[in-house]
Amino acid sequence: MNDSGSKVLLEVRDLQKYFPIKSGFLIQKTVAQLKAVDGVSFTIDKGHTFGIVGESGCGKTTIGRTIIRLLNPTGGNIFLEGEDIAILKERSLKQYRQKMQIVFQDPTSSLNPRMTVGQTLSEPLLFHGMVRSKKEVEERMSQLLSSVGLKPYHVDRYPHQFSGGQRQRIAIARAICVDPSLIVLDEPTSALDVSVQAQIIKLLKELQGKLNAGYIFISHNLSVVRYISDRVGIMYLGKMVEKGDTNEIFENPMHPYSKALLAATPIPDPKTRRKRKELLSGQVPSPINRPTGCFFRTRCKYAMPACEKEYPQMVRIAQNHSVSCHLYSLGEPEKIVEK
Ligand SMILES: Nc1ncnc2c1ncn2[C@@H]1O[C@H](COP(=O)(O)OP(=O)(O)OP(=O)(O)O)[C@@H](O)[C@H]1O
Ligand SMILES: [Mg+2]
Repeated sequence: MNDSGSKVLLEVRDLQKYFPIKSGFLIQKTVAQLKAVDGVSFTIDKGHTFGIVGESGCGKTTIGRTIIRLLNPTGGNIFLEGEDIAILKERSLKQYRQKMQIVFQDPTSSLNPRMTVGQTLSEPLLFHGMVRSKKEVEERMSQLLSSVGLKPYHVDRYPHQFSGGQRQRIAIARAICVDPSLIVLDEPTSALDVSVQAQIIKLLKELQGKLNAGYIFISHNLSVVRYISDRVGIMYLGKMVEKGDTNEIFENPMHPYSKALLAATPIPDPKTRRKRKELLSGQVPSPINRPTGCFFRTRCKYAMPACEKEYPQMVRIAQNHSVSCHLYSLGEPEKIVEK
């Protein structure tokens, strides 16, 4: 695939990540597979943000880590700027490592406590050959620190000498220092105070404008996802059950799971809020032993006999809105079935 002039940054096709479940005392055998990510597809345009939401354990972090190849995919394709990085071996992958960065939820554990800010930032710059002299390192570091709202004199400080919000700024500086084209933001504000969260989100938005990087934004905070994302995918037990433009998904969720999940988003108009009240009941089934047919059917008030038999295909119901639910796929052949 040659897409040098394309606006598509990332195309994820039918991505799978299974974790083997092993058992046995002396000799361990694989007895089952935990399908953490099971056939997920979506695209991100350059400079755009794709938000991923869903209950705990649905596979959000696993998607993020698999896409940037911190985990090896079990199957599927990950086209980054047209190149399928899912199949690349470590040596060939090296040149892509620089293009894909991640910011974790907890900056305290993601930063090395024994390294100063200067060491944390200069290491990737030198490793990827982005600077040639000591002078260049210093210039680049002071530019980076100011772009994330820190001061040049912070360079000699250790992570414990900063506040949580400042530490996350350092983690962001480390992610952007190598000019990545894709950044996975895995709950980057969840560990922070509410007022600091807003500052970090604002910073991420500003930086995206400058870097033209694509973001994968993972969060439980639906309001933040709505604010920052251009498109959103809703996950349930390793599958994406609905995806589309952010406004379309939040204004007009179609999947019963999305409706219930998004009902928790605060809506300014109290009348609208009452109409949307569809709460989630029951427990998420075990990812090792998922229900037959549609995985959500055990909690779905619209479940029909067909839902027990077959997993629903993803169908496009509007220009930029697709859903995987038998309510919309049965008997409506004019809808476009997606891979
Ligand atoms: N290294 C691993 N080995 C085995 N199972 C794993 C591993 N990492 C994740 N899992 C399992 O994969 C599933 C998806 O986990 P993941 O961390 O991706 O969920 P998540 O959506 O990010 O959840 P949360 O919102 O709590 O962060 C879970 O059932 C989890 O237990
Ligand atoms: Mg997670």
